[in-house]
Amino acid sequence: MQTVTTAESARYAKCVEVSKRIRWDIDRDVIRGRTFDFTKKFLPDGLSKVDRLDFLTAAEQRLLSQIQGRTYANIFGLVERFIAAKVLEVSHEHRLGDQNALEALVRFGDEEIKHQELFRRIDRMCAEGMPAGYTFVPEPNAVATAVLAKSTWAVLALTCHIELFVLAHYRESIDPDPDLSPLWKDVFLYHWREESQHAILDELEWKREDARLAPEARDAAVDDLIALVGAVDGILQAQAAADTHYFVEVCGRPLSASDVEKLRAGVLAAYRWQYIVSGVQEPRFAEALNGLITARQGARIGAALGPILA
Ligand SMILES: [Fe+2]
Ligand SMILES: [Fe+2]
Repeated sequence: MQTVTTAESARYAKCVEVSKRIRWDIDRDVIRGRTFDFTKKFLPDGLSKVDRLDFLTAAEQRLLSQIQGRTYANIFGLVERFIAAKVLEVSHEHRLGDQNALEALVRFGDEEIKHQELFRRIDRMCAEGMPAGYTFVPEPNAVATAVLAKSTWAVLALTCHIELFVLAHYRESIDPDPDLSPLWKDVFLYHWREESQHAILDELEWKREDARLAPEARDAAVDDLIALVGAVDGILQAQAAADTHYFVEVCGRPLSASDVEKLRAGVLAAYRWQYIVSGVQEPRFAEALNGLITARQGARIGAALGPILA
């Protein structure tokens, strides 16, 4: 077992301190009896990319941003199922060791369980203001079972990537947009506050796991990470098709076959940006990953990402 250094223990302790200070409650702090304002967008154009779909009216772009927002909440509910399970698993390593590390990870797991509840609430609140027929395709436990079958190194790499893009989305796109639904903004403000500690803990645990791997095991873990990103892309393709189908059903006018295809391609490009590309391009993630892998492994990951980044 790798021992926790004094410096690492202090970082875990800091995460515990901040987690206690900023801890929030779903009803008392975030929702506060409010409902969503459906005259506003849910996702900023920087994430939804709806402004590129110039054959849609402003009202249609807003509807598409609300559908994408509902999917955004559902995707987090999905990934947090496997993140919570993996974090509770790695916390075992610290059971009788550094108690700051143990507490930080237990709080992390507890927060992700709370976030899943928040995102289920958000989905139900979206349903109240949207026509029937929306479907979220992937099933959280089926995805979690497949993800958790991969090596811990790869799961922690994917988790670190996800939690860093959560921070980037809030900081760069959600916070600066004055026109989003205020409740929607609050959901992601409060989520961002707890995720900030998660991203630190992901990096600590990922590096600890890396330090125990032999070169061959790390090489296999890189293949696992490539497979996980491919699986994420498969989910995004299925959900982009489902969300496009729903939009076409509820938008209130017939769209030509070529516009439907442009719409599907535009939604898929937005989802790839949201859940893959924006994380890969996050300098903190690139730095963490490149610090653990060889140039040849980096090139393998780059080649696998090629069709997604295109
Ligand atoms: Fe979360
Ligand atoms: Fe998180």
